[in-house]
Amino acid sequence: MAGAESSSPAASDPRASVRARVFVVGAGIMGSGIAAQCALAGYNVTLEDVNEEFVEKGRANLARALDSAVKRGKVGAADRTRALEGIDTAIGLRRADSAKFIIEAAPENLELKQRLFAELEAAASPNAILATNTSSLPVTSIASRLSDPGRVVGIHFFNPVLQMELIELIPGLKTRPEVVGEATRFAASLGKTVVTSRDTPGFVTTRAVAVLINEAVWMLFEGTATKEDIDTSYRLGFHHPMGPLELADLVGLDTALSILDVLWDGFHDPKYRACPLLRSLVAAGRLGRKSGEGFYPYPAAPPSAGPARPA
Ligand SMILES: NC(=O)c1ccc[n+]([C@@H]2O[C@H](COP(=O)([O-])OP(=O)(O)OC[C@H]3O[C@@H](n4cnc5c(N)ncnc54)[C@H](O)[C@@H]3O)[C@@H](O)[C@H]2O)c1
Repeated sequence: MAGAESSSPAASDPRASVRARVFVVGAGIMGSGIAAQCALAGYNVTLEDVNEEFVEKGRANLARALDSAVKRGKVGAADRTRALEGIDTAIGLRRADSAKFIIEAAPENLELKQRLFAELEAAASPNAILATNTSSLPVTSIASRLSDPGRVVGIHFFNPVLQMELIELIPGLKTRPEVVGEATRFAASLGKTVVTSRDTPGFVTTRAVAVLINEAVWMLFEGTATKEDIDTSYRLGFHHPMGPLELADLVGLDTALSILDVLWDGFHDPKYRACPLLRSLVAAGRLGRKSGEGFYPYPAAPPSAGPARPA
């Protein structure tokens, strides 16, 4: 994927304002992947988190994801290097002021996201698009404390970001049509296919997959089968690329639990009742791949060869 040049920008190209900047809030699983994807597409990127440790972890993760994309033949070595050079890091939201697109990828917690968006409204340029990568929380609620909620939209990426081709776009009840248009062009500029969902808890994708994951955890809890046999059943029986417990480990068990709680709060339907085993694992700090153990153990990944750059 070639980088965007400032010399001949197409009028409708969302990168056209001299390599527009994307500011990504939260350098975890999703934020680091989103940063890598945007940099590959030619945007300048700032990856932000609450402290240096999280930012550096995010940088290491995205370098690993880019290395893996090069190994799979999906990204050229020069594009990987250019992408890494196009990403800098920040602590705090101050530098959001120079961004055209702001993508929030902080934990799945309504109170936290509402506070972050109020702070972002103050920090960002008035013309910037404010997007949330929430998997389940209503975009209208996230935007509800802003003086201009019309500039907030859901841009839901999938995990792992570099490999997944879909973006789910979620306009809130007050999102302006031109914001939806700009967000759609931005999502398409990343090479993804864009689908749109109404703003209901879990949208189209998360609502269904949360039930699948939860049902698999209930089966494990009830002793229906071993975790390996549950996952093998879905991989071989339905051609799923990974089993639901492996998927939960990839997503993060804390995120999966938060999503189920959002669905429960939103619908009060018992099908979204989170299995107590999921709650126990989260309480024990077994969050999946990101903590080194979830349903399965994950030995520490080797450091990437990617260059480390100061913030
Ligand atoms: N994990 C998935 O598969 C997946 C897929 C799609 C969408 N999402 C959504 O993306 C969002 C992030 O999920 P994740 O899996 O990357 O979580 P994560 O736990 O891996 O990362 C969250 C990051 O946000 C940081 N953070 C916490 N408070 C912050 C603040 N005030 N300001 C800036 N950063 C802050 C944390 O330090 C952490 O690095 C959630 O809304 C989640 O629902 C997750």
